[in-house]
Amino acid sequence: MTTTADAARFGGRVGLVTGAGSGLGRDVALRLAREGARLVLLDRNAEALAAVARDCPGAESVVGDVAVAADVARAAAALDRLGPARLLVTAAGILGPTVPLPEVSEAEWDRLFAINVKGTWLALKHVVPRMEAAGGGAIVTFASGAGLVGNPVFPAYSASKGAVVMMTRSLVAGHTAKGIRANIVCPGPIETPMLRDSFAQAGDGAAAREDYTRARNPMGRFGTPAEVAETVLFLLSDAASYVNGVAMPVDGGRLA
Ligand SMILES: NC(=O)c1ccc[n+]([C@@H]2O[C@H](COP(=O)([O-])OP(=O)(O)OC[C@H]3O[C@@H](n4cnc5c(N)ncnc54)[C@H](O)[C@@H]3O)[C@@H](O)[C@H]2O)c1
Repeated sequence: MTTTADAARFGGRVGLVTGAGSGLGRDVALRLAREGARLVLLDRNAEALAAVARDCPGAESVVGDVAVAADVARAAAALDRLGPARLLVTAAGILGPTVPLPEVSEAEWDRLFAINVKGTWLALKHVVPRMEAAGGGAIVTFASGAGLVGNPVFPAYSASKGAVVMMTRSLVAGHTAKGIRANIVCPGPIETPMLRDSFAQAGDGAAAREDYTRARNPMGRFGTPAEVAETVLFLLSDAASYVNGVAMPVDGGRLA
């Protein structure tokens, strides 16, 4: 149920959520909308996006690829129709191949970095100037625990998420004075289609990979999209007004 207090937290604020069609981006978008934000939702999966948009009053949907500059520009134009941009969440991402670094193909590497790194940069490129013109705003980018420490199971993904961490920190170093506040969320294993894909890629070893991932977490379980989304909303909110440039694990203590 939406209360007046809920609606006030992001009431009237305009923002872009990439990867809004599934998993963590979906949960963030639904919660932001419930608390009053007016959103542009970007995802390459038209059907999934339409289902989320139905539950986000006043949202504009843009079906597109975050790695394609023209698609991100369309999302930015949609933002202009809604009002001054104040919020950005870059959740679109892929896992890529779960093989050792030398076995990653050039095409897989390029696609992974196009989506996870260039896709994040394109969103910043288009939204940050708009936020600055609006007097400032709050950003959360999506890295991963694998962006903070090396990962032997998905090393290329780990490299791409490390880049997201440093891109966001560099943004903080250069743009805080212009009213931009940016933080990075670094989830551990969260129950979404991407986590299931990471296990499925192990083929016959899927159950063993799942057991191993669960067992090495101090909480002995996977996180939920809600647990990540609540952290993202806090980081976007005025309650986090002095939290800037933080790469925050939401991982049950996996990196403790
Ligand atoms: N689930 C986890 O365990 C976990 C852990 C750490 C980090 N993350 C990160 O969280 C973010 C969300 O992951 P998730 O688990 O919700 O995944 P997910 O696969 O459930 O959702 C990702 C969404 O992004 C969209 N997307 C992918 N590539 C796109 C592109 N090129 N253009 C536009 N949209 C695109 C997909 O269509 C999908 O709707 C990702 O950046 C991921 O790397 C997830």
